[in-house]
Amino acid sequence: MSSDAFPTDTDAQPVLALEPRFYTDAEVFAAERERIFFQTWQYACHAAEVEEPGDFVVFEVAGQSLFVVRDHSKTLRAFYNVCQHRAHLLLEGSGNNKLIRCPYHAWTYHLDGALKGAPNAKNVLGFDASSICLQPVKLEVFCGFVFVNLDPDAKPMAEWYPHAAEDLRSYVPAIDDYKPIWTHQVDEDCNWKVAVENYNECYHCRVVHRAFTKGVIAADTVDITPGEGYTLRHRADAVLSENASYSFTDTDYHVIFLWPIMAIQVYPGRVVNTYWWRANDVSKTRVFRGWLTEGGERDPATLEIAEIDRDTTFAEDLPLLNSVQRGLSSRGYRPGPLVLDPNGGVDNELSIYTIHRWVREALGV
Ligand code: FES
Ligand SMILES: [Fe+2]
Repeated sequence: MSSDAFPTDTDAQPVLALEPRFYTDAEVFAAERERIFFQTWQYACHAAEVEEPGDFVVFEVAGQSLFVVRDHSKTLRAFYNVCQHRAHLLLEGSGNNKLIRCPYHAWTYHLDGALKGAPNAKNVLGFDASSICLQPVKLEVFCGFVFVNLDPDAKPMAEWYPHAAEDLRSYVPAIDDYKPIWTHQVDEDCNWKVAVENYNECYHCRVVHRAFTKGVIAADTVDITPGEGYTLRHRADAVLSENASYSFTDTDYHVIFLWPIMAIQVYPGRVVNTYWWRANDVSKTRVFRGWLTEGGERDPATLEIAEIDRDTTFAEDLPLLNSVQRGLSSRGYRPGPLVLDPNGGVDNELSIYTIHRWVREALGV
């Protein structure tokens, strides 16, 4: 745990939750777009979704349309999804293209972003196709997960999240060979921090998540602590196997949360699953829930766990988020003290304190 993980300057007063404006004010969200979303590593897609030359996936980061594509030399690249002629968006969804062709006036680009041709360009004085290229975005692959960073000067993921990849490989040695088999997504009427905070604390688990705390993990062993860099680490013992909602043979429960908006979970038995979010507006967030198996095998047991989780843990959180967002607009709400227990443990909001610290640091407030 880093040395500033626990508050020391509070003069024995509890630390209070963030003021509601952080969750409801469009100006705060506009500042977060610039200082958080456009400067941090954002999950794009899984490398297995762009396996062949020409495969592409379009996605958004806080309103910016982007895409990842594998070029003819098998290099993964990311670009802003916008034509350099008069700004039509280039691609939609996912698919495979040998060239990228703008639907508006048919300018075409190579998969490395260079302009290939523009109708009638030969008659334009001084038209220099070699000077026109799609705008690239920094890209890294983290244990098979493709991330982008819109800041051209961003530090590598290994500096943002020291040892996170090594630790994930220690939990799941074959993680680089895992592929997604099932993803579902839901729109949430809440600020992205309401969702990310809810995800990163288990103070509510025994109140709300009976299936999870009875059938997956031993709730009284949960600990969620700041890890190295901008990570939160969750761990717990697996529930006793006779109580488990699915059968597994070994390993405990581990999560690596990569600030600000992606988490890789390893359920007992090395069942790999993910959460990631897209912050679409101040109170509009979309959550994605992914499940992966080694080699992408459509393992019936994993699919069954995914369904149980969707109908229990995942579903149980959704009304909480919408309710909290409504409550944050209540004239009667005064931010309450965070439950910071120096002894750690499940009934603890040290992770919330950490997230608030990262938000304030990014926004300079
Ligand atoms: S805007 Fe793309 S070709 Fe004109
Ligand atoms: Fe929850």
